[in-house]
Amino acid sequence: MEIRFLSDSVVQYQGDALTLGVSKSTPLDGPAAEVNGALEGLISRLIEAGEISGKQSEVTVIHTCGRLPVERVAVVGLGEPNHDQLLALRRAAGAAARRLRDRGCRHIASALHLQAPQGIRPEQAVRATVEGAYVGLYRAGECKSQKELPDELESFGLLGVSGDQSDPVVAAGRAGRSAGEATNFARRLVNLPPNEATPSRLAQEATEIAKVVGQEIEVLDLSQIERLGMGAFAAVARGSDEPARLIILRHRPSGARWVPSGSQRGRRGNGPQVAFVGKGLTFDSGGLSIKPSDKMETMKQDMAGAAAVLAAMRAIGEMKLDLDLTAYIPATENVISGHAYRPGDVVKAINGKTIEIISTDAEGRLLLADALAYAQQQGATHLVDVATLTGACIIALGHVASGVMGNDSALVEAVLDAGERAGERMWRLPLFPEYRVQLDSSIADLKNVGGRPAGTITAGWFLREFVGETAWVHMDIAGPAWSEKDQPHQIEGGTGAGTRTLIALAERLAGGGT
Ligand code: BES
Ligand code: MN
Ligand code: ZN
Repeated sequence: MEIRFLSDSVVQYQGDALTLGVSKSTPLDGPAAEVNGALEGLISRLIEAGEISGKQSEVTVIHTCGRLPVERVAVVGLGEPNHDQLLALRRAAGAAARRLRDRGCRHIASALHLQAPQGIRPEQAVRATVEGAYVGLYRAGECKSQKELPDELESFGLLGVSGDQSDPVVAAGRAGRSAGEATNFARRLVNLPPNEATPSRLAQEATEIAKVVGQEIEVLDLSQIERLGMGAFAAVARGSDEPARLIILRHRPSGARWVPSGSQRGRRGNGPQVAFVGKGLTFDSGGLSIKPSDKMETMKQDMAGAAAVLAAMRAIGEMKLDLDLTAYIPATENVISGHAYRPGDVVKAINGKTIEIISTDAEGRLLLADALAYAQQQGATHLVDVATLTGACIIALGHVASGVMGNDSALVEAVLDAGERAGERMWRLPLFPEYRVQLDSSIADLKNVGGRPAGTITAGWFLREFVGETAWVHMDIAGPAWSEKDQPHQIEGGTGAGTRTLIALAERLAGGGT
């Protein structure tokens, strides 16, 4: 799909269809009034008749019968006025684009970004519109033997944009394309079956990204992981016949010196060295603390953190952000064999801390512990991990929001702000010191499970033990990573949660951002 910047107005655009927003109980103005006028009041009549309600993402397709150059107008609901307008716009853009594509349109254009209320900058509106369209247009079905899918959209136009290369709105459209495509890349990885999306496949995808956007790639196998002293990661990986991988992908600002791994990297000026760490459990059976089958069915999603990190790296590479950023992705399955780790085992992480295993189903934190501590040893100054870490986070925040925790308020605020700009809901949870005692072990430095109360927070506290004094934020995406149902703006399955927040964070750390 091509993103086109069009100086046309709604009454000039000559493609197949255009998309237009209406809010609840708000008079039509701007482009909506213009289209309504050209259609001789048809939209206001449909509103009076209750056929168009303005409800969030409700799409009504109207035929113009020659009154406009386009054949169709998709009128899409923006919900309540003055209520999360940018998120409403984003979702409306997706719902409308999807409906028009499914009706056979190939060239469509948006007026939605022109309808954002005061206080939202044009760049923000364009970015949200483009990202929303990509998210709405995503389709699954990669494994179907018969491809029965209708054609893709060929172009998505942004009306009323000069297209001048120096216009910040053009840059926002391009960034929206990278971030939207990245989100769908992450979704595709999450939706792949676990017999395909293996740790080696994730490594292959990372290698491909490195090649396409010019990043450095390094892939370690289990023997190297063990030799580095990552006893926690290795314990989880040993039960599986599917080879484990530690994937390291490095993005450098152009001109930065590349120091091979093994040696401690020197600090580059005063700039931050950022590390993104993604949980890459390509399948989580629970191990010997096995999951009931209904909980196991969707556990291919347990690499959604890894998918978000890889996808973000791809977009950040495309956008050529001026930032020293390294992705660390520990990837393995958590399954059972005679080599599987047991409840009661004590394992030692790379930073020397010993961990008593209470449940082999609390495996994600073991991988992350080693990967975070390693990233810190390698010189990271800012650590951000993304993980489908706890079922408890779904109990706390549902599928609506991710849980955010950290040891550095400035970095936590930066992540929350990035989430808001990216249209991903995030909510901070406290790491009060009182929770830490739940991880006390009588025989080791800590246990891998802190009991049922505050399960998301004790998981956060566990990770905190492996980051030392380095600024660190943890995003538990267990809820939003997976959508149980088809929604107008997003089909069921993997959602790419975390991808756009990481991109927005990287943009801000690089000193820019929409
Ligand atoms: N991958 C799961 C968490 C999860 C659950 C993600 C549902 C997405 C949807 C994680 O490895 C896990 O099993 N966590 C346990 C922790 C417990 C043993 C302390 C859980 O949440 O039950
Ligand atoms: Mn588990
Ligand atoms: Zn897991």
